[in-house]
Amino acid sequence: RARVAEGRKPYDQRLVVVTGAGSGIGRATARAFASHGAEVICADIDLDAARRTAREIGRLYGTAHACQVDVSAADEMERFAAYVRDEHGTPDVVVNNAGIAVAGPFLDHEVADWKRILDVNLWSVIHGCRLFGRQMVERGEGGHIVNIASLAAFAPSRALPAYSTSKAAVKMLSDCLRAELAGKGIGVTAICPGFTSTAIAGNATYLGGDRSMAEEALRRRGYPPERVAAHILRAVHHNTAVVPVNTEGKVGYAL
Ligand code: NAI
Repeated sequence: RARVAEGRKPYDQRLVVVTGAGSGIGRATARAFASHGAEVICADIDLDAARRTAREIGRLYGTAHACQVDVSAADEMERFAAYVRDEHGTPDVVVNNAGIAVAGPFLDHEVADWKRILDVNLWSVIHGCRLFGRQMVERGEGGHIVNIASLAAFAPSRALPAYSTSKAAVKMLSDCLRAELAGKGIGVTAICPGFTSTAIAGNATYLGGDRSMAEEALRRRGYPPERVAAHILRAVHHNTAVVPVNTEGKVGYAL
């Protein structure tokens, strides 16, 4: 990776797309890239939240844009990717971060619950990888795709069966795409955070069963999302394949 000339920031002239940038890990990641000079596109289904992050970045660092996108919808993602390319150019880094938590026993999940969680947590990443991966290959100047999985991808959980399944799939698709794009200068990383203090527990949907167990699984105190953002920037710099982030916010698998 190129050395940075004095007085320049590592992401000067670089375009970074972050989904779910209105809150938590996405917001911290958008801010972290911006603090290193990137122009950031903050996408979220919640436009007000995306705008808040973009305004914050504008005040502190530089240029940021806010976009409303439902990452689970194929047509919205296609429109979004075309907008990014046509208005701003092919991104250098894409962080597929947006996700939801649905908690409760496997047998209490209806088909619609499985569909929703796989749409938001898995299909969103498939869309982001396909659309922006193709743009990066076409441009021929490399790039990096970061997918936010979870330590739940490695730890069977009675509280989060569909969520954990979606995250295991995100981890595997990241590995496959990484192998495919390795010769093209495009890196792919799966970041697997453990408990991170964000709004996700409050936003979670609880389905049947022993709700307190599900709540406990999501409410455990974690490290601040800035910790995950720092791991993301490091992983892009070193082109790391998988980064598990343990309970202390360090690289490791222990939950
Ligand atoms: P959060 O709830 O604070 O933020 C998620 C953001 O994604 C919100 O701004 C929300 O509006 C947005 N979003 C949700 N559905 C969307 C959709 N369909 N289209 C576009 N945007 C949408 O959650 P957090 O914790 O920052 O989560 C970010 C990612 O990190 C998720 O993929 C989550 O599964 C993952 N993660 C979180 C962990 C934690 O302990 N907080 C642990 C491991 C992984």
